[in-house]
Amino acid sequence: NGIRVFDPAFLNTAAISSKITFIDGDKGFLMHRGYPIEQLAEKSDFLETAYLLIYGELPSKSQSEIWKFEVMHHTEIADDLAKVIGSMRYGLPPPPVPSAYDSHPMSVFISAFAAMGAFAPEANPALQGRNLYIQDKAIMNKNIIRIIGKSATVAAASMRVRMNRPFIAPRSDMSFAENMLYMMDATSDAENYKPDPRLAEALETLFILHADHEMNCSTATMTHVGSSLVDPYSAVAAAAAALYGPLHGGANEAVIRMIERIGTVDKVPAFLSAVKAKKELLFGFGHRVYRNTDPRSKIIRQVAETVFAACGHEPLIEVATALKDAALADPWFVEKKLYPNVDYWSGLIYRSLGFPLDFFPVLFAVPRVAGWLAHWKQAIEAPNPKIWRPRQIYVGEKVRDYVPVEERE
Ligand code: CMC
Repeated sequence: NGIRVFDPAFLNTAAISSKITFIDGDKGFLMHRGYPIEQLAEKSDFLETAYLLIYGELPSKSQSEIWKFEVMHHTEIADDLAKVIGSMRYGLPPPPVPSAYDSHPMSVFISAFAAMGAFAPEANPALQGRNLYIQDKAIMNKNIIRIIGKSATVAAASMRVRMNRPFIAPRSDMSFAENMLYMMDATSDAENYKPDPRLAEALETLFILHADHEMNCSTATMTHVGSSLVDPYSAVAAAAAALYGPLHGGANEAVIRMIERIGTVDKVPAFLSAVKAKKELLFGFGHRVYRNTDPRSKIIRQVAETVFAACGHEPLIEVATALKDAALADPWFVEKKLYPNVDYWSGLIYRSLGFPLDFFPVLFAVPRVAGWLAHWKQAIEAPNPKIWRPRQIYVGEKVRDYVPVEERE
């Protein structure tokens, strides 16, 4: 109608109507396809939740078995892709210590997904008619299954290359989280290696909590990029790049770097003063939608206890708790309605599990692939889908004449 609404950073723009996820930010409530996150975290597993997000209903027993079998049998990656990943090393080989390659695993994850499109010829965007994925659901489903299955393998490989260690082939006879722990961790006795069931369960819960969160920055990116009908591997690479940023999925790494920098409980007041003076950000706090405690952070705090019991006390917990308590009691944070978000505690869990700090955002990316695909599928299947193309308000120069370089001042 010609009327343009100026809404920088999409503070108030709904770009889709969706049946996938609902958040009540004032109440701190989250549900997927109608199921509250607390119930899914307690009773479901990651692959079942992924199915729910993508296909709209919890799978029947046989649907669940077929789905899990299919995903776990699409976890292998091509040898050439493994070579691409293995080549992504920054640092002078041989590194100063055997585990000191500095390539950020998230850069490797992003690049691996971009490269993966090259190994999926049927996903080539040039082949896509307007409704390719609609006409051929088998192609859509095959790519969904491949992307979820391979996400864990690519993630584990990104950590192994970071640690300068050989890749470990996936195990289709394990659960999603067990297999991921296995690929990251199995050492000499791979055949008999069995991940600690408490840790596999904790990771499974963390993956459920991270699987989707409606129109966050990376899911909006997936939907935006996907609206050009590019292949879903390239769209996942773009979404992963959005997630990498410290205001989004990179926050779990930034939280730990912040707490390490604070160091001791007595330094907490000075740090909060710096936050209030806008010299620092309190990572792991605040959210565009939640103006109350993020329900996922409550569940994560419980998972943390399980992991600490299995892996030993996490020394940074005292500083993290003191920082959280001080912020929640401070009127500056109360007035701005800043509460802990999902990233506040998750980093402490990953640290306790012994993962390298820069690997934490990858642990966010793997499960979020399910949410990206759910939104991608929903958008592709929507009636009359359109390419995303926001408008702008032009505030630049009025029209003027070109000045030859010799005549410019
Ligand atoms: N530390 C200090 N000040 C903050 C923070 C924070 N973490 N979050 C918001 N504020 C301030 C902000 O400066 C603004 O102040 P003012 O009114 O004086 O301008 C006010 O609170 C309102 O915040 P906002 O910037 O309008 O909030 P937003 O919706 O644009 O940003 C956010 C949301 C998550 C990017 C932001 O809260 C933030 O930077 N948090 C820290 C990074 C973080 O933890 N990210 C993870 C988000 S949750 C999981 C995920 O999506 O990945």
